[in-house]
Amino acid sequence: MKILVIGSHGMLGRELVTRLTTISDLKNQGNKVTGVDREHVDITNAANTSKFIAHVRPDVIINCAAFSNVDACEAQVSEAFAVNTTGAKNVASAGKQTRAKVIHISTDYVFDGDKDKPYIETDKPSPISIYGKSKLEGELAVQEINGNYAIIRTAWLFGPYRENFVTTMLNLGRKNHTVSVVTDQCGSPTYTADLSYAIQNIIKLDFQGLYHVTNSGTCSRFEWAKKIFELTGNQVSVIPLKTADFKRVAKVPQNSSLNCTKYTKATGQRMRPWQEALEDYLDTM
Ligand SMILES: NC(=O)c1ccc[n+]([C@@H]2O[C@H](COP(=O)([O-])OP(=O)(O)OC[C@H]3O[C@@H](n4cnc5c(N)ncnc54)[C@H](OP(=O)(O)O)[C@@H]3O)[C@@H](O)[C@H]2O)c1
Repeated sequence: MKILVIGSHGMLGRELVTRLTTISDLKNQGNKVTGVDREHVDITNAANTSKFIAHVRPDVIINCAAFSNVDACEAQVSEAFAVNTTGAKNVASAGKQTRAKVIHISTDYVFDGDKDKPYIETDKPSPISIYGKSKLEGELAVQEINGNYAIIRTAWLFGPYRENFVTTMLNLGRKNHTVSVVTDQCGSPTYTADLSYAIQNIIKLDFQGLYHVTNSGTCSRFEWAKKIFELTGNQVSVIPLKTADFKRVAKVPQNSSLNCTKYTKATGQRMRPWQEALEDYLDTM
């Protein structure tokens, strides 16, 4: 089986390619994994994407490419839709032409955050940001175009290869010895290594449809920051803040935690708690 990872220079894409080409049992079964990014294929360009995928002829395409800067999406609306919607559509169409399965990565930010429990796959999305809207349109395009798909909604990613909430907290803590963090945004921090393992399961079991996949458990960003400093032993005071007092460009959901029961039931495997995953990540730093 040939697996093509698009967006392989990003935080998830790099982790995924590394895992699939080194320790995955998919690799041991003789599968070939190729990672590509913008310099190989620009997914906003339909002809370029179609030609590239027709040339590679993968059996499975994992689309990790995205315009993922939530605040920047508000100012660069057409670019956000070009990558997150048109790009998703182009990959799905090119995959259909070559009969490839498309695994599309999406986000918790397709929800408005007003639910008081973790979201399930059948909850109605209602995004409140350009990023969320462009990602939801991307999901709909994949579902409409290529019947052979799995969409994985994930959240609050951390891992090596790119700045993320954990590295930002550590850098701010080192510099200022105090950080202010919001208490009224809840979600499920997710380690890219654990998500890569779950994606591997989804390929092996040939799942179709929509799945929520995050590390288990929910916390506020404030609790997440506290845990980071507790685990690293850094003496940093974490000051609670409300979203309303924290100026950011994009609106973000108050509760975007995802219920992953569908994935757990289908695979028989529960994603481990985010605290354990965070501890492992910090050990690697
Ligand atoms: N990060 C999170 O907390 C989070 C949470 C929930 C869901 N997700 C989803 O998870 C997936 C992976 O996110 P990530 O954090 O790994 O993203 P990332 O680090 O921003 O990586 C995205 C990659 O896609 C590439 N890309 C952008 N536009 C492209 C184009 N037109 N053609 C080809 N490649 C292009 C980027 O290249 P450039 O750097 O050159 O632009 C980058 O290498 C995305 O679908 C994202 O929406 C992320």
